[in-house]
Amino acid sequence: MPKPENPQSAQIISRRRVAEHGEVFTAEREVRAMCDLVGQECERIASRFLEPACGQGAFLVEILHRKLAVVAARYPRPQIVWEQYACLAVSSLYGVEILPDNVAVCRRRLFEVFDAAYTSLFGDGCKEACRRTVQRMLELNIVWGDALTLKTPDNAQKPIVFAEWSDTGNGLFKRRDFTLANLLENQPMEGLNLFSDLGEQAFLPTPVAEYPLIHFLKIGEP
Ligand SMILES: C[S@@+](CC[C@H](N)C(=O)[O-])C[C@H]1O[C@@H](n2cnc3c(N)ncnc32)[C@H](O)[C@@H]1O
Repeated sequence: MPKPENPQSAQIISRRRVAEHGEVFTAEREVRAMCDLVGQECERIASRFLEPACGQGAFLVEILHRKLAVVAARYPRPQIVWEQYACLAVSSLYGVEILPDNVAVCRRRLFEVFDAAYTSLFGDGCKEACRRTVQRMLELNIVWGDALTLKTPDNAQKPIVFAEWSDTGNGLFKRRDFTLANLLENQPMEGLNLFSDLGEQAFLPTPVAEYPLIHFLKIGEP
């Protein structure tokens, strides 16, 4: 069923933010039309998307809706399998945004999309561990950063780092971290592939950190 248009979604918060940051959010109708252009990719659960200058996550939210619809259709039961694929879907979405309040809203909206789907399917059986995993993934994947300098927009000027998540089977996920600058090296901006899994000859970025395999329900543990 198509998602209803949100009549309250404002495209502009203030004139000042438009002037200083070019902040005009994309309307849902346009978001949907653009996602339709890459419809099959939006339905591949593991297909990775980066929304640079993601604002409040207009595109990421729509893509997550589409991916979770696929998860529900293909893997409605058992619950643990739905959870694993839903976490994989969340783990595939990346955003960079310069305004911290937008980062927070983007993460919150994505969590709400996940949680509404989760709760509607499993109600009281939902696990806090799974919710924490999703929150942790969103903390790492939706980054406060400057998409032009590829660094944090504070005095520290740290490189933007993304976590690559791979589902290795049996509920075990692998995390490797890369700097965005390294991922973008040797990449044409047109047809850019972030962590491509399409099997083409590709430049191999070097991780700045690698983590042991971890069960996906433990990712959010402190
Ligand atoms: C035109 S809005 C688009 C937001 C969202 N992608 C959408 O389609 O609704 C541009 C966004 O980019 C952010 N932005 C501006 N300069 C940026 C930069 N150098 N790095 C990251 N984000 C930036 C703004 O704060 C704003 O949220």
